[in-house]
Amino acid sequence: MDKDVILKFDNVYFTYDEETQDGIEPHWAVSGVSLDVHKGDFIAVLGHNGSGKSTLSKLSNAILIPDKGQVSVNGIPTTDEEQTMTIRQHVGMVFQNPDNQIVATVVEEDVAFGPENLGLAPEEIRKRVDDALKAVGMYDFREMEPHKLSGGQKQRIAIAGIIAMQPECIVLDESTAMLDPKGRKEVMSTIKSLHDDLGMAVVFITHNMDEAVMADKVVVMEKGKILLSGTPREVFMNVDEIRRVGLDVPQSTLLSMRLGLKDEVLTPVECAEAIINDWK
Ligand SMILES: Nc1ncnc2c1ncn2[C@@H]1O[C@H](COP(=O)(O)OP(=O)(O)OP(=O)(O)O)[C@@H](O)[C@H]1O
Ligand SMILES: [Mg+2]
Repeated sequence: MDKDVILKFDNVYFTYDEETQDGIEPHWAVSGVSLDVHKGDFIAVLGHNGSGKSTLSKLSNAILIPDKGQVSVNGIPTTDEEQTMTIRQHVGMVFQNPDNQIVATVVEEDVAFGPENLGLAPEEIRKRVDDALKAVGMYDFREMEPHKLSGGQKQRIAIAGIIAMQPECIVLDESTAMLDPKGRKEVMSTIKSLHDDLGMAVVFITHNMDEAVMADKVVVMEKGKILLSGTPREVFMNVDEIRRVGLDVPQSTLLSMRLGLKDEVLTPVECAEAIINDWK
């Protein structure tokens, strides 16, 4: 086994159908997906509504178990029920709605919830909570009541709760979708620093193409399958295919195409450069 692989999907199928009949294919929410998440990866997952992104994320830490194929975390298959807690410690999940993820009435107690369940010593818990709050830029808010915080701040608390468990990989399922632009920015820069500064592998599901271009690798899902995967540049140059499955390409890519610029453009800065190059 490749020792750098933290999370491995090996030809994974999952259906929500309760009864499956011999000879009749069920409705596969995830269908034949193989994907490796390595140490230090920064992966964006895109796909139209119902393409299987949330199902994929829940398969990653044993919230759901594959019907066929295997998901493993550091070599441990998610079917091993005795290891479920270990698996969730290695691969943490952050969901869409911050309000559904906060359990305590004080910020630092909320962040301490996970490490307390790991049975760690009080000093270790204290240190992890402080470090996690600092990592998401919320240390000064540690004694506040979570319900008084903005959406972006609450989501950063939810992220702190996960990083206090010190996972090697964090999976975020549209964790910026319910936030205003400021909250989105806060959360995206937090996610980026988990990757850049703490070396965590990050898998983030998003509908926002401008967030997706920040990733090192983009995976596009369609009807439960992986349709495209590669660097943002490789993926977003398939403009027709991306639009066929109901997605957009980044605004800068679109603008540069409309302007008939030759350079392959992903970001506003590249777009500006391409316009200047075109004038020369
Ligand atoms: N709890 C459930 N019960 C039955 N079917 C479900 C359930 N959750 C999802 N599905 C179905 O599984 C398929 C994949 O859904 P999933 O939620 O994984 O997609 P998604 O890409 O996360 O969509 P969205 O962008 O809307 O969040 C869809 O056909 C969906 O209808
Ligand atoms: Mg979803």
